[in-house]
Amino acid sequence: MKGIVLAGGSGTRLHPTSLAISKQLIPVYDKPTIYYPLSTLMLAGITDILIISNPDDLPQFERLLGDGSQLGLRITYTAQAHPNGIAESLVLGADHIGDDSVALILGDNVFHGPRFSPMLREISRSLDGCVLFGYQVHDPERYGVGEVDADGKLISIEEKPTRPRSDRAITGLYFYDNNVVDIAKNIQPSARGELEITDVNLRYLADGKATMIDLGRGFTWLDTGTPEALLSASQFVHVLETRQQVYIACLEEIALRMGFIDADACYELGLKLSKSDYGRYVMKLAKNWGAGN
Ligand code: TTP
Repeated sequence: MKGIVLAGGSGTRLHPTSLAISKQLIPVYDKPTIYYPLSTLMLAGITDILIISNPDDLPQFERLLGDGSQLGLRITYTAQAHPNGIAESLVLGADHIGDDSVALILGDNVFHGPRFSPMLREISRSLDGCVLFGYQVHDPERYGVGEVDADGKLISIEEKPTRPRSDRAITGLYFYDNNVVDIAKNIQPSARGELEITDVNLRYLADGKATMIDLGRGFTWLDTGTPEALLSASQFVHVLETRQQVYIACLEEIALRMGFIDADACYELGLKLSKSDYGRYVMKLAKNWGAGN
């Protein structure tokens, strides 16, 4: 399975902060926002990842993450000339997807919850059609909304409905089989001129191939699209990390735990950041995993 992080967009709700920097490079507490969606793909066991962003911002993502080999990944980059919609990422990423399946994640989405990695790996193993993730919110009218029947089968998807049929927002993580490339190439821009991910999902729904998994109340899903949301996300990460001394979206740690790199390589990565708590955490973890032995 391939991965795509969509990290472009206009970021107008974060102006002026995002005028000169991509919103996915702004920190959520102690690390750039893109670390969070990237960590989700890694937890799914995905190592071949395409990052899509605005032409002006791409060089900074490359400076941050390089070719990914230090983390045992293969990271490549593609420009989205204009923010023509989320579904355009699947057209821009067609060569990257090839004849594989794909997990697409929005660059400003933060997921955190118990047993997430086994859940994602199981989904990627058994994927047939598309898998969406639903999350209970108090304001579903702001989102794409999914409705499931008594058996948990997805029966409707509505984009920003005035009268939502459920309180389950569809989050910014989407698993698709290889048909998604053809589907995305054949959808038409919406009234607002964008290729809508909802139209892709509706096609799977019409074919009876769309599933939505409810993330449940023990789970956290946040985005960072507004100053308020960005602050909330930072506070959430800060509380968990300082209370438990366990880091969220520490890429070096995930690469180590997933077996993408060994403890010595992990230690070296931490050493480069050793002036920060983050770097020292990575070094300590690597030592616990046998670095230097
Ligand atoms: P949004 O938050 O919907 O849009 P935006 O980033 O343009 O921000 P604003 O509404 O403040 O102007 O986008 C969700 C995510 O998808 C975000 O990570 C940016 C990304 N995105 C793209 O990369 N390309 C696109 O064409 C769109 C629509 C979004």
